[in-house]
Amino acid sequence: MDNLDQLQEEYSEDFCTLLEEAYGEGFLSEGGIEAIENSVKGFPLNNKNILDVGSGLGGAAIHFAQEYNALTTGVEINQQMVDEANRRVPKKLTGQVKFLYYDDINHLPFSDESFHLVYSKEVFLHLDVEDKLTLFKEIRRVLKDEGYFIIVDWLSPLKDHWGDKLKDMMRLDGITLFANTQEDYRDVLRQSGFKIVSIAEESENYAQYNKDIINHLKRDEIQNKLKGKFSDKEIQDNILSYTLLYDSLKEKELFIQRIVCKK
Ligand SMILES: C[S@@+](CC[C@H](N)C(=O)[O-])C[C@H]1O[C@@H](n2cnc3c(N)ncnc32)[C@H](O)[C@@H]1O
Repeated sequence: MDNLDQLQEEYSEDFCTLLEEAYGEGFLSEGGIEAIENSVKGFPLNNKNILDVGSGLGGAAIHFAQEYNALTTGVEINQQMVDEANRRVPKKLTGQVKFLYYDDINHLPFSDESFHLVYSKEVFLHLDVEDKLTLFKEIRRVLKDEGYFIIVDWLSPLKDHWGDKLKDMMRLDGITLFANTQEDYRDVLRQSGFKIVSIAEESENYAQYNKDIINHLKRDEIQNKLKGKFSDKEIQDNILSYTLLYDSLKEKELFIQRIVCKK
């Protein structure tokens, strides 16, 4: 994975502060607990071993442990995020939730068949197809035979091409995202040995989440809070970035989909 240093820089402390203000405590992607619950609907999670790939500030892994008494592990390529997520684990969940750093997609730091469920939300958009293939093979290795792999991710209707609004959003946020289509996803999952169980369109829900975020960020109280740390331009650009994301979803330049696979 060549872009590791770049990715660590892109998720700077300031960027994470802005993301968390938009997405809610512990989250670096939209929808909070409602979106997480939607993505695991129908899967028995009680007392299961769950891996969250790209666990960010730890919101999902902590939720699974709290709600389902699951044994959860998050892995991240960003050491600061791992440290912060570990700091946030409630005392009563010590030993039940842990966050680990790794820096090699050829090797996840777990033995074969360790997890009943591997979950990942809005992470693989940071990997090109070759890196997805490498990491998915590793994910398959650490998944139990009867296990499931649930992905929520951003997909483009056009291979290697994002629409203009999404390009503007990436420029404003200073992030790089790979434009993979559903067909790319099908190919790479098949090549890594997974069987696709279902693919569900979630774009409408995510458009609504983004609309709610825009309204939240426009509130005087939130703008005043951010003014302590960010310039007026940064605050307005942040709102513009969610507006571009909302428009991309509504105009189908971007799809957000939930993909469920098994071994
Ligand atoms: C948009 S955030 C989502 C974080 C979290 N899943 C959430 O929903 O709050 C993307 C995260 O993916 C992480 N990431 C990027 N590439 C990764 C990789 N190959 N393995 C694990 N994490 C990765 C980034 O460091 C970042 O924390």
